[in-house]
Amino acid sequence: METPYLTHITSEDFKYVYEPAEDSFLLLDALEADLSKLQSQQPAICTEIGSGSGVIITAVAKALPQTACFAIDINPRACDVTTRTAAKNGANLNVINMNLLNGFRSNVVDVLIFNPPYVVTPDEEIDSYDSTSDNPFNDNIIKSWAGGTDGRLIMDRVFDAMDTILTANGTAYILVIEENKPKEIIANMKTKGFCGSIVTERRIRGEHLFVIRFERVSHAQICKSAIK
Ligand SMILES: C[S@@+](CC[C@H](N)C(=O)[O-])C[C@H]1O[C@@H](n2cnc3c(N)ncnc32)[C@H](O)[C@@H]1O
Repeated sequence: METPYLTHITSEDFKYVYEPAEDSFLLLDALEADLSKLQSQQPAICTEIGSGSGVIITAVAKALPQTACFAIDINPRACDVTTRTAAKNGANLNVINMNLLNGFRSNVVDVLIFNPPYVVTPDEEIDSYDSTSDNPFNDNIIKSWAGGTDGRLIMDRVFDAMDTILTANGTAYILVIEENKPKEIIANMKTKGFCGSIVTERRIRGEHLFVIRFERVSHAQICKSAIK
């Protein structure tokens, strides 16, 4: 997959929108490694929650031209930057300013991508966003990284809803760090009928990053054979 051009994004934009970093590129690497699997599945709908600059979903939309790709972000400025990234790179994207997948019908997402706010913070930091404030953009950047207790507050909402998000043979790629307790996440998801596999991991300054791929146990070869 080609890394999209990002030269149109200004330093002013990056005051308010998450700047792609090692986590973004690790997730991109994981998707690239699975590209032929994804292409063979011919997904109808691919959705990234929290597209930020749009670097990931733009690359995916270019690599899967037959798939309807959606970019969702709670931060309106991230939606604007994602729209510009798609246009700059000639990608066909549907960009929606929305909280997680609140406006989506159930069980329509074939491929879900999420690099969530994963940093451990006090829970109150997450809900500090005040849409009536004079400059809501300032508070929105907090939503890029503030993850609450264990860094799990936002991602757990997605894990809890996974069964109603994914199609029968859908796949989710979620980035987490060690502090989010990846083994606990995988064990919890197994009780909900999902097989989680760490498909890639990387240690960077002070952080151990993982990408976990989730599939329904009924569709995941590794989990099926482990159960037998
Ligand atoms: C770590 S950044 C990832 C940005 C981009 N995907 C990347 O990898 O570079 C997390 C993104 O999630 C968005 N976000 C946080 N909470 C959200 C929510 N409840 N609904 C939708 N997007 C959310 C943030 O605005 C931010 O753009």
